Amino acid sequence: EKGTYPHYMLKEIDEQPLVMRKIIQAYQDINGKLSVDSQIIDAVTEADRLYIIACGTSYHAGLVGKQLIEKLAKIPVEVHVSSEFVYNMPLLSEKPLFIFISQSGETADSRAVLVKVKELGYKTLTMTNVPGSTLSREADYTLLLHAGPEIAVASTKAYTAQIAVLAILADVAAKSRGFSEDFDLVHELGLVANAMEVLCGSKEEIEQMAYDYLTVTRNCFFIGRSMDYFVCLEGALKLKEISYIQAEGFAGGELKHGTIALIEDGTPVVALATQKDVNWSIRGNVKEVVTRGANPCVISMKGLNEEGDRFVIPHVHELLTPLISVVPLQLLAYYAALHRGCDVDKPRNLAKSVTVE
Ligand code: M6R
Repeated sequence: EKGTYPHYMLKEIDEQPLVMRKIIQAYQDINGKLSVDSQIIDAVTEADRLYIIACGTSYHAGLVGKQLIEKLAKIPVEVHVSSEFVYNMPLLSEKPLFIFISQSGETADSRAVLVKVKELGYKTLTMTNVPGSTLSREADYTLLLHAGPEIAVASTKAYTAQIAVLAILADVAAKSRGFSEDFDLVHELGLVANAMEVLCGSKEEIEQMAYDYLTVTRNCFFIGRSMDYFVCLEGALKLKEISYIQAEGFAGGELKHGTIALIEDGTPVVALATQKDVNWSIRGNVKEVVTRGANPCVISMKGLNEEGDRFVIPHVHELLTPLISVVPLQLLAYYAALHRGCDVDKPRNLAKSVTVE
């Protein structure tokens, strides 16, 4: 039920801190340590390569998941769009494990890959929000997202739940492989939940940003580097999906290879700056687009912020920034759609779960 909320999407954005806390609880053992079914951890650690298969927002979560798994558990990961995988099947490693990420567990494009790789005899794991869904029933193993029902077509809390569960999987697999970094994920995810709460309390500010940048524009670009780039892809999808503004996410370093030609006087460019290593270079990219007339909207993380940034998000662990940098982008899309009179929860031409190939 929507309760007092005007739209499911806004309610689901607001639920994210609670979802983070639920996930921590769901994956904690009686000693408070993070734990994942041992069969799943065995399947992950015995694999020589993980293949993440997903569509849309779930694919974007997979891109972040690859970084988490490779950095923490040091297992190679490939991420593929489901609808392309069957046609452009990569050369597979000797012991692959296929991980399907799907909020609904019903996406036909992902199921087609599942059927195919099962025929080939490979092991499969589904990460889904819906217990008993087709992808969950048909895979060898399931990891649940614990996000609660997601009704709005635009996925929000499922995305952050997917990243949090991927982080837990990466962390537990890392420990089981003997890599114990100085990283207390329970504590860090708790800080993420608190930071999300702060962001959900900043709606007026973000509504004003949507008003200033997106009321009349016909396009909008999102730029970022490293983890921020993946969040830019998601921010752009959110915006185009519900506000019909043409939006694209670009890697900062790619601008000069063609994309910068799109920048005109007044083009809104949202830049994410949450990663220390690339802060100087994304700042350089912002200068480049400003020189061409762009209207920049820099969203930075506390500690990396500079004068003139439009919005500053609280500080969280560098590996977990996508969980919070996405929140202002979700709200930006929401308010842009609202101001433009769009049907936020049921955008044109789209269905919540895509059950045709
Ligand atoms: O249920 P799934 O996670 O498999 O759905 C995948 C995509 O269809 C979905 O994430 C879609 O991109 C969302 N509407 C984006 O907000």
